[in-house]
Amino acid sequence: MEQTFIMIKPDGVQRGLVGEIIGRFEKKGFTLKGLKFVTVDRAFAEKHYADLSAKPFFNALVEYIVSGPVVAMVWEGKNVVAIGRKIIGATNPAESAPGTIRGDYAIDIGRNVIHGSDAVESGRKEIALWFPEGIAEWRSSLHSWIY
Ligand code: PPS
Repeated sequence: MEQTFIMIKPDGVQRGLVGEIIGRFEKKGFTLKGLKFVTVDRAFAEKHYADLSAKPFFNALVEYIVSGPVVAMVWEGKNVVAIGRKIIGATNPAESAPGTIRGDYAIDIGRNVIHGSDAVESGRKEIALWFPEGIAEWRSSLHSWIY
């Protein structure tokens, strides 16, 4: 079953949006497979965003991610990567539709509340980076209609 990595960024945690964001993924029908509350250091944040190291905003993005604790999660379900990105909304909150997380709760691209993997393969890499210990298996006891 497909999995994605979702991170509630420091602004989302500090603004008290953790419950709201988790609720949106739960109510959609996805399964929470892993969750941890962590503060990462610069080296770890640089690794997570390594593909963006040449971007002019790279340093600001890393500073933002290390500025406070984040909620790192693994969500599972059919098409969870693509549907997760829809739930999150466009990267720039100025373009995110109302009803999406960024459309409802963010204004600035540099404080856009949440990260979601952009493809199944990047999801796999991000889950391996953030959850090197692996994640517990419990889904087999659920009914098949739950994605
Ligand atoms: S790009 O340039 O198309 O590769 O970037 P994009 O896919 O739009 O965004 C990748 C991540 O970079 C963050 N980002 C920014 N952060 C700070 N400032 C600026 N200007 C900025 N532009 C993009 C964006 O939120 C994406 O982060 P994640 O955590 O992956 O959502």
